[in-house]
Amino acid sequence: MQPDITPYLARRRRVLERLGEGVMVIATAPEALRNRDTHYPYRHDSYFYWLTGFAEPEAVVVLVAGRRPRQILFCREKNAEREIWDGFRHGPKAAADAFGFDAAHPIGQLDKRIGRLLQDRPALHYIIGRDPAWDARVLGWLNEIRGRARSGVRPPERLVDARALLDEMRLIKDAHEIGLMRRAAEISSAAHRRAMVATRPGRREYEIEAELLHEFRRHGAPAPAYTSIVAGGANACVLHYVANDQPLRDGDLLLIDAGAEYGGYAADITRTFPVNGRYSGPQRAVYEIVLAAQAAAIAEARPGNAWNAPHEAAVRVLARGLKDLKLLKGDLDGLIESEAYKRYYMHRTGHWLGMDVHDAGDYKVDGEWRSLQPGMTLTVEPGLYIRAADDVPRAYRDIGIRVEDDVLVTQAGNEILTADTPRTVVEIEECMRA
Ligand code: GLY
Ligand code: MN
Ligand code: MN
Repeated sequence: MQPDITPYLARRRRVLERLGEGVMVIATAPEALRNRDTHYPYRHDSYFYWLTGFAEPEAVVVLVAGRRPRQILFCREKNAEREIWDGFRHGPKAAADAFGFDAAHPIGQLDKRIGRLLQDRPALHYIIGRDPAWDARVLGWLNEIRGRARSGVRPPERLVDARALLDEMRLIKDAHEIGLMRRAAEISSAAHRRAMVATRPGRREYEIEAELLHEFRRHGAPAPAYTSIVAGGANACVLHYVANDQPLRDGDLLLIDAGAEYGGYAADITRTFPVNGRYSGPQRAVYEIVLAAQAAAIAEARPGNAWNAPHEAAVRVLARGLKDLKLLKGDLDGLIESEAYKRYYMHRTGHWLGMDVHDAGDYKVDGEWRSLQPGMTLTVEPGLYIRAADDVPRAYRDIGIRVEDDVLVTQAGNEILTADTPRTVVEIEECMRA
């Protein structure tokens, strides 16, 4: 499908303005073999797609900045035979027209043409150290230019990690990106509701995973944004549980962490609900603590606040709750100071969200937590994971709960993109009765 290219053109122009006289070269992701001659479903590179909207493999974008800026795409050629087997390819001519490039060339000509584009430029911006084969290739380009020194040309003096520039730009989402993230969030919310309705004792975790995938796919999401976690009972205390093959038991909770990718953007939602549709007393007590921690954290996700403010707010509520449940003993500040709460809450309260589920962008700048700004998108996902142990009261053993929503920082504060996902005890129990 041909995307609206306006936002991609605007991004390339903004990058060109910031490159000075430099050149940026970004390759898309390689195709990956799954086994023998079968490939994983293809997924473009996020940086490349952010700049181009072009989803074919074997493509490279070259942005040449300066007085006469040029945007050049290298991509696969038309190939009647391959298109019979694998489907449509734009080919350079049609790709340049459709995606707004000044020029496009066959990918096979990259090594031949790149020297002329890089020579006598002060800096080359590319993603350093991500792929050894590309690193070697880029050094080869520089050496090729150096080999022509007597004709008066020089290779770029500076090799700059392109992520320095691109990560900062990806951190603030434009209107087009926010639109796609809203849709990813909507589809993912619908999938969580579907999972709640489908869950009952005796079904297997993978049956519920199938409900999620069904809902993603039927709304045009090509894939989950990450491997879905569908974890019944004690499995919820395994943070990256993905086996998803156990039966669901009456009286247990089910933790689902799943989100769709749509238009290249991720949603990331977690809900934890009772397999039989009703929270038990102890389950509810722990759930309400996590929910209160999430509310406190979301309230802190507003412009001007430090990145860490939501996490600190969540930790305080969780630690107080653990004390109330008598799972921790001591004074509240001491429990926070000593990080005693980490026995039950060992991860952080969120991460940037965007094209990648753990999206691009630094969390600290010059050693200080970054300030939140309108247009940033993050998750808020506190949890409590109470593994069975002799000193844990029986009623709380093997309860694992996380609640995760996706938040857009706005001028006024924030907006919860995933607000359509039942979240309170009442909302969840009502959804499950449906
Ligand atoms: N699903 C990955 C995460 O929550 O960070
Ligand atoms: Mn997350
Ligand atoms: Mn998640």
